[in-house]
Amino acid sequence: MLNKRLELLSDYAFTKLNTLLEPVQPRANLPPVIMSVGDPIHAPPAFIHDIITNRPSESWNRYPAVNGTPEFRAACAGWLARRYKLPKGMIDAERQIAPCAGTREGLFQAAFLAITPMEGGERPIALMPNPFYQVYYGAAVMAGAEPRFLPATQATGFMPDLGAIEPAVLARTQLLYLCTPGNPQGACASLDYLRGAIQLARQHDFMLIVDECYAEIYNGTPPGGILEAAASLGGSLDNIVALHSLSKRSSAAGLRSGFTVGAPQTIAKLCQLRSYSCAATPSPILEAATALWNDDDHVAPIRRSYQEKFALAQRVLGQRPGYYTPEAGLFLWLDVGDGEAATKKLWAEAAIKVLPGAYLTRPDPSGRNSGVPYIRVALIHDLETVEMALTRMARVL
Ligand SMILES: Cc1ncc(COP(=O)(O)O)c(C=O)c1O
Repeated sequence: MLNKRLELLSDYAFTKLNTLLEPVQPRANLPPVIMSVGDPIHAPPAFIHDIITNRPSESWNRYPAVNGTPEFRAACAGWLARRYKLPKGMIDAERQIAPCAGTREGLFQAAFLAITPMEGGERPIALMPNPFYQVYYGAAVMAGAEPRFLPATQATGFMPDLGAIEPAVLARTQLLYLCTPGNPQGACASLDYLRGAIQLARQHDFMLIVDECYAEIYNGTPPGGILEAAASLGGSLDNIVALHSLSKRSSAAGLRSGFTVGAPQTIAKLCQLRSYSCAATPSPILEAATALWNDDDHVAPIRRSYQEKFALAQRVLGQRPGYYTPEAGLFLWLDVGDGEAATKKLWAEAAIKVLPGAYLTRPDPSGRNSGVPYIRVALIHDLETVEMALTRMARVL
């Protein structure tokens, strides 16, 4: 009765974490600190509260348009042009932008845009980095593709080596997910790398889906993006879909608001798919999102707060072998030898909850799982809490 593909989704990372820690008692005399999930806890700008609460009641009884409002689309296109210094007119806001309920939803739907399941013969392939954001896998499976994992280890600069994909695999590939800045490693793809990815997608006619939800949270210079790479190749977004979010940029994950940008024909199909499959973003949320994309001032303090936490982490944990400060994102990706053992120990002895790296990775064909030595630590709390937690962590590890 139930879709058989759902059986493949049962080892969700956080379900596994709950199972791992169920028998473990956290140390009783310490306040627990949850660093396993990437929920940003910094306050979003107060003005979104006013926008949402001051909307007249008819904003809630009307069905919102599936592709948002002209103001929302213009705000997204304006931000893209500012952030990536895009040539004037490269993005046609009316035809190339669609809202999504956070990039999670956009990433899931993008797989359904790209994948045509086979009636017979071999299944199409969906490529993704390893480690990967769980939604890439779930979307690929549910859309009828075979997920294939591309190592994104320290040896490959934490980005998949696109030159190492076998021609027989590329021939069956219908989509490639990339995440830059990456979760969990915080690596950023260079513009050269992104240009190579676009060229590969066009050569083999697959969809390149680029998750850029951490684009605004970086430690050094702003990371380049896929649109910047596309601009340098002439400006077309054929074979490209990029996703952006207010969850990290504006610390507004609860708003569930992001957008998808792509070629006009891709976005037209996406809107068609959304008409069948999704709840369009409510207009008060779109109005708040519009204000957030139009404003860059509130982002700098949010970014700075993460930078301060990374500087703190460097001071507290920097002496550990293999420790590195990530280029971007919210996470430490720490080599601790055995991620599961360290996760249990940290919960038992320091009341700190982290995520074993192996829950975000799959074994390679030889059975080796590159995530096993790691834990992922989300630096979401305020500086004081992070300092307390990392100090406890340094003592236990
Ligand atoms: C890599 C990555 N992509 C996408 C998302 C989804 O974010 P949102 O749906 O809030 O935009 C997350 C959330 O943590 C993430 O880590």
